Amino acid sequence: MDWKTYYESHITDAAAAVKRIKSGDRVVVGHACAEPSHLVDAMVANAAAYENVEIVHMVAKGKSEYCAPEYSRNFRHNALFVGASTKAAVAEGRGDFTPCYFSEIPALFQSTLPVDVALIQVTPPNEQGKCSLGVSVDYTMAAAAAAKTVIAQVNRHMPYTNGACEIPVEDIDCFVLHDTPIIPLPPPKIGPVEEAIGKNVASLIRDGDTLQLGIGAIPDAVLLFLKDKRELGIHSEMFSDGVVELAEAGAITNQNKGVQRGKYVATFLMGTQRLYDFVDHNPDVYMAPVDYVNDPYVIAQNENMVSINSCVQVDLMGQVASETIGMTQISGTGGQVDFIRGAARSKGGRAIIAMPSTVKGKTSKIVPLLDTGAAVTTCRCDVDYVVTEYGVAHLKGHTLRERARALIGIAHPDFRDELIREFQARFHCEY
Ligand code: COA
Repeated sequence: MDWKTYYESHITDAAAAVKRIKSGDRVVVGHACAEPSHLVDAMVANAAAYENVEIVHMVAKGKSEYCAPEYSRNFRHNALFVGASTKAAVAEGRGDFTPCYFSEIPALFQSTLPVDVALIQVTPPNEQGKCSLGVSVDYTMAAAAAAKTVIAQVNRHMPYTNGACEIPVEDIDCFVLHDTPIIPLPPPKIGPVEEAIGKNVASLIRDGDTLQLGIGAIPDAVLLFLKDKRELGIHSEMFSDGVVELAEAGAITNQNKGVQRGKYVATFLMGTQRLYDFVDHNPDVYMAPVDYVNDPYVIAQNENMVSINSCVQVDLMGQVASETIGMTQISGTGGQVDFIRGAARSKGGRAIIAMPSTVKGKTSKIVPLLDTGAAVTTCRCDVDYVVTEYGVAHLKGHTLRERARALIGIAHPDFRDELIREFQARFHCEY
């Protein structure tokens, strides 16, 4: 059967497609802004037909209605990353959280987390009968490869991205044609604090560096302060509109990269239509699965690799909590550690944790001890640079005393006295 006949004979509607999901199945939902919302809506509308369907998802940018208390008999969410729409379910015990490195999720689908159904979103097929996974290749490719049943929403709004991100129509069991704008992520708000952080991070970045940008407002905001740099490269788990702005400023050539020279490398994208237009059919963009993009060994093949991520709290030893507030899970490990380790192995590499010094001016993010129950995302041996609006602290290779002193030096002035008292008690010396 030629691909066109296969494709046309496997088109169905969403209500029929989600009947393939059975009680007790593990369903993996396409990631982040590529969530196939039309299929998820149909699955939720069919909730009465299911019992105990496990929904595995990471950065959930959709409505996540399957997390609502009224569906607790029908669905149980297993979050690989918690977000605004899923954190209540996890906190209230209706959902679960699985700690994991983003780079290892594809392997989990082949081992501990076998997949029954993958709900994905793709472009219409090209002339060769291949669909692009568009803005999310990450674990979505691996979920499709592992699943017994693959259901795809075919959306003409999905940008056709290049790279290792195409899937032949024959690998998909049914197609639901539904056009809807790709979920947007608005650009971050930049105030004086973000501006100062951006400038401090920029002081650590040199022409020719290859950058990774983490999730959250700060990493994207930092890019706005790199417009006078030259010959930068992008090898990042994700990127947003900030990269487009930097590209338009002439700061990016990708020419100094050790892997995929000349290309913007990413595993997923979140931004506005401006970003989605930039990546559409762009031969300079290389989208690939997360077990390639986030593999520390691959990352390290770029010399002068700089990772820029954010966090919730840092203690005086340099332990970084990025995904919990005390015992409450608010996000996940994601690719933070993948990239910090990749940057550490890169010749000339640097790993930056950038954050405001306070939570909305009220409490310090640099603390003597992490909040009770907080998970350490980046351990004290992995941490390298910590940056706030007050400066840069270099921790790697430094003693506990030196680290504490450097961190106090970039804490908000309102909290320094308290931290100094802790320093004196802990190290039996003057600050
Ligand atoms: N104590 C209490 N609350 C805190 C806090 C702290 N120390 N630090 C942050 N918060 C609160 C914020 O006030 C905010 O609350 P709100 O939602 O009520 O406004 C919320 O937690 C989120 O913090 P914010 O700083 O606004 O988040 P962000 O969108 O900038 O993301 C991280 C920051 C740390 C959550 C994000 O970078 C992350 O998830 N990192 C881990 C994964 C990672 O780095 N991946 C990288 C590759 S994708």
